[in-house]
Amino acid sequence: MAKVKVAVIGLGSWGECHVEAYRSIPSVDVIAICDTREQQLKEVGDRYGIEGRYTDSRELLQRSDIDLVSVVTFEENHLASTLQALGSGMHVLVEKPVSTKLHEAEAMLESASRHKRHVVPGHLLRFDPRYAEIHRAIQTGQIGQPQSMYFKRARTKGMFEIYNRTHTAYLSTVHDLDLAIWYAASRVKTVKAIGNWVTGAESPDILWALLEFESGAVACFNSNWMTPDEAGIVMNDSIEVIGSQGTAQFDNRSSGLELWNQTGRQTPDLNIHRVMNGSTAGALRDQLQYLCECIGTGRDPVYTSFTDAIHGIEVANAIVQSAATGKDIVL
Ligand SMILES: NC(=O)c1ccc[n+]([C@@H]2O[C@H](COP(=O)([O-])OP(=O)(O)OC[C@H]3O[C@@H](n4cnc5c(N)ncnc54)[C@H](O)[C@@H]3O)[C@@H](O)[C@H]2O)c1
Repeated sequence: MAKVKVAVIGLGSWGECHVEAYRSIPSVDVIAICDTREQQLKEVGDRYGIEGRYTDSRELLQRSDIDLVSVVTFEENHLASTLQALGSGMHVLVEKPVSTKLHEAEAMLESASRHKRHVVPGHLLRFDPRYAEIHRAIQTGQIGQPQSMYFKRARTKGMFEIYNRTHTAYLSTVHDLDLAIWYAASRVKTVKAIGNWVTGAESPDILWALLEFESGAVACFNSNWMTPDEAGIVMNDSIEVIGSQGTAQFDNRSSGLELWNQTGRQTPDLNIHRVMNGSTAGALRDQLQYLCECIGTGRDPVYTSFTDAIHGIEVANAIVQSAATGKDIVL
C-alpha cells in the first residue's frame, strides 16, 4: 500500500500534536505544513524535518501530491481551507468545532459529497477507549438505550485565557454533544442553557445545558473553566450514561499518575496524546491512523460522522442562544 501523503494547516499547540502523531504512523508521510506565523512554521519544520513549508494555505493546497489535510487553525476559520482542499481532490480532517456556523458545516459536507472526498470531524473522543466502550455497551445491549446522560468537562482558568476566544459551547461542550448524539443515535428536540460569565469574558466561564432527544433520552452538560491552575488538574471530566439495562460511568480527573515537584502537582493525561519511546500513542493517533487506513484501503470512515458533527453545531447554536436569551429552544 502506498503511503498516505499528509499536510497540516495550523501549527499551534494542537496542530503540532497532529504533525507528531502522523509522523509516528508508518504508512504516512507528512510532506507539507502551513502556518501564518513564520517563526512557528520554521520551528515545527525544523523539529520534524518537513521540507514543504507555507505561510499561505492557498499555495499549499495547489499541490497535486497531497492525499489528506488536517485543518487545525482557529475555530472561526476552518471553512476556506476545507473547501479548497476538497475542491483540489484531498480528503480533510477538520478540527472541532468543524465551524461555529451551521451553514459553513453544511457547505463542507456538501462539497465533500460533490467531490467524492471524505471530510471527517476532529471528534477524537470516539477513539478514547473509555468513551468507545460506553458506545459498545449501548450497542450490545449491555446497558441498553440511553435514558439519562451527564457530561462534565472542566478545564483550568489559565486555559480559558487562551480559549475564551470562542464560546464554550463550541470549544468544549461540542465534544460531549458529539458523544451524546452518538450514544443516543437520535436528534435533539429541545435545548435549555444557562451561562455564568464569572470573569466577564465574551464566552461564559460556566455553562450548563439540558437537552431532550427525540428518543426520549435527556442529557445534562456542565462545561466550565474554573479549575485553579494550582490544582495541577488539566482535565476534570466525568460521564454517566444510564441506559434501560444498566449504567456506565467514569471520571478522568487522574490518569493514575501524579508528578510532584517544585512547581506543584501535575496529573498528565495519558489517553489523548502522549509521546513514548520516540513514537506517539493515544486517541489522536488512533483517530488519524483509522482515517489514513480508510484512505489507503478505499474504505469509508463510517466510525466518524460529519452529519453528527453538523447536528452538534446546530445544538451548540441553540445552547448559545438559550444562554443569551434565557429561552428554551425547540429545534
Ligand atoms: N480535538 C481536540 O481535542 C482538540 C484539542 C485542542 C484544540 N483543538 C482544536 O484545534 C484547533 C486549533 O487549536 P489550537 O489549540 O492548536 O490553537 P492555537 O491558537 O494554538 O493554534 C492555531 C494555529 O493556527 C494558525 N492559523 C490560524 N489561521 C491560519 C490560517 N488561515 N492559515 C494558516 N495558519 C493559521 C495560527 O497561527 C496558530 O499557530 C481549534 O479548532 C481547536 O478547537 C481540538
